[in-house]
Amino acid sequence: MSPNYGDVIVVGSGLSALLTAKYLSKHMNVMVFTKSNKYENNSFLAQGGVASAIADTDTWQEHFHDTVLAGCNHNELNSVELLTKLGPGMLQELMEAGMDFDKDEQGILSLGMEGAHSQRRILHAGGDQTGKRMMQWLHSQISHCVQVVEQETVIKVLTEDDRCCGIKTVNRLGERKSYYASHIVFATGGAGALYSYTSNDPSVNGMALALAYQAGAILTDLEFMQFHPTMLHVNNKVVGLVSEAVRGEGAYLVNDHGKRIMQGIHPLEDLAPRDIVSRAIFQELDRGGKVYLNIENVINFEERFPTISYMCTNQGIPMKNNLLPVVPGAHFFMGGIKTDLNGETSLKGLYAVGEAACNGVHGANRLASNSLLEAIVFSKKLAEHLLNKPMGNCREKLNDPLTKAKSDKPFLPLPAKSELQAMMMKHAGIVRHAEGLQKLKGWLEAYQPYWQEIDRLEVDLSLEETELIFMLQISHLIASAALEREESRGAHCRSDFPQASEAWLQKRIVHQEKIKLLV
Ligand code: SIN
Repeated sequence: MSPNYGDVIVVGSGLSALLTAKYLSKHMNVMVFTKSNKYENNSFLAQGGVASAIADTDTWQEHFHDTVLAGCNHNELNSVELLTKLGPGMLQELMEAGMDFDKDEQGILSLGMEGAHSQRRILHAGGDQTGKRMMQWLHSQISHCVQVVEQETVIKVLTEDDRCCGIKTVNRLGERKSYYASHIVFATGGAGALYSYTSNDPSVNGMALALAYQAGAILTDLEFMQFHPTMLHVNNKVVGLVSEAVRGEGAYLVNDHGKRIMQGIHPLEDLAPRDIVSRAIFQELDRGGKVYLNIENVINFEERFPTISYMCTNQGIPMKNNLLPVVPGAHFFMGGIKTDLNGETSLKGLYAVGEAACNGVHGANRLASNSLLEAIVFSKKLAEHLLNKPMGNCREKLNDPLTKAKSDKPFLPLPAKSELQAMMMKHAGIVRHAEGLQKLKGWLEAYQPYWQEIDRLEVDLSLEETELIFMLQISHLIASAALEREESRGAHCRSDFPQASEAWLQKRIVHQEKIKLLV
């Protein structure tokens, strides 16, 4: 087999990518591509665990109900049913295969509590190191049978006859290569790094979504970016996540006068859905105040949360004061590449899974710890689907005749990435309004010639410039969607349309690149 050809190409190196690769590798030749190294991704950073109705006292119906309530009825109900119903069994299979989750002294699984859950149903591994432990275990499972290509960034989705059949990559030395496969899976994560305050790895910047869009795949729900309420905030920078599990163990939010800020805002107070907690913090900060997470009630904090304790000590936060300074940061993208329940996108041969995909499971606001479960359930679904699909007829010598008309608009110098991130934070952040979104959209449109002519420009661009152009394009789509949705629902909050509107209930905004012209 040629080194540039596989049965399946998986782009991304997080949990969804590795699980898909693990499930497929027994029967197919799988290549995994990551633009950084295999330990730099959001899954590796995930402190929070896996939500699943695994306890005898719990039911999948209750988990279903909590998911839809947090998602503000924007969820695709079939997706939620699959997630909550199949989750416990698939999790059990992983445990039987050797993945260890935390147990109490009697050997019974320890189940944690997080925001908007009606039951304790969160499994953790190593306290707050769930993502890291799962990733390490998965690498040990696949290292002998899956080729992982590091430091190669996908810069184009290759298509032929309206079918996706490969990817073009560039490495750190600027060398370009093309790879082909019957099935191309995008497990590339979301877009949190478009914002200046984020819990995401810098590589998770939405570029892959723009690539899929340019190739013709439909994107949807782009107006829904979840902000995690508690990012540790030191010297005007966010330095890491303080897991919601800390509030699950009794921590609460106070302002700089020591007043609890969630009292009277929601019956679940500090464990209200994330969008509500983030907005309450945002309002305090907007008034010029500060917000702290008071951890005085958390028993054995350092033992239970070793990663967070280490981070605080490292950042010079005195733990004896029990007050951790926090701000909200972009955390999870509910939108993404539109897929069905099997991960099929609107472009033949291209599939998406995990945060990169949008099958509607999270609605307008993801329920805490549902994303690792999403990875487990939908990676397996996708793998089973691919194993039953005929192989595409991919040829290595693709010609790429699809080019676009040359723009006569002048090219402004590209902005700094930090400028884009600050603009997104300010105008497409926790609370939006038409004026700010229009300003953002107009600012982004000035760079439109770059993404419209990326094919022609590409050879002369550095990798950083190429990434930035795709970040500008996906930001433009996010701003357009946020402007179009004239209501507030879940993570999308418009100060000029503060209520949820019946007219928008279960309506999704979809985006598809114009049909390309053959020249
Ligand atoms: C957290 O631990 O608070 C994050 C987990 C999640 O986003 O589900």
